[in-house]
Amino acid sequence: MTMPANDIDWHVLEDAAKQAMQRAYAPYSKFPVGAAALTEDGRIVSGCNVENASYGLTLCAECALVGQLHMTGGGRIAAFYCVDGQGNILMPCGRCRQLLYEFRAPGMQLMTTQGIKTMDQVLPDAFGPENLEETT
Ligand code: THU
Repeated sequence: MTMPANDIDWHVLEDAAKQAMQRAYAPYSKFPVGAAALTEDGRIVSGCNVENASYGLTLCAECALVGQLHMTGGGRIAAFYCVDGQGNILMPCGRCRQLLYEFRAPGMQLMTTQGIKTMDQVLPDAFGPENLEETT
């Protein structure tokens, strides 16, 4: 099921991402991040980055988001929005593109610094669950 582009209220997602950003725990980088997503069944899920004194253990905002996705009923992501501490659009890092790819709805859209793009555009030729199925 592909969510029609008209059904996506990007302002609602932007607001949810900004609210999540306010919850960030980023004492080391001082770079708070908030992410929000619209699920295919119309829920909004969000997350903030959570850093750690052992720097490499930092959880990106998208990690918290996919956790909330599952904790609130699972499903697939139709649209995604991420912001930095100024509320500006932030591109998900490479690892987080992979996290999002796992839970993408067909035609999933992301707000990017270059406008709306699809998951396939921001992570082309991706490795995903389908690849594992090929070997079984
Ligand atoms: N960060 C995210 O939360 N998501 C991203 O996609 C990019 C980076 C966080 C991790 C770290 O807490 C801070 O931004 C600086 O790298």
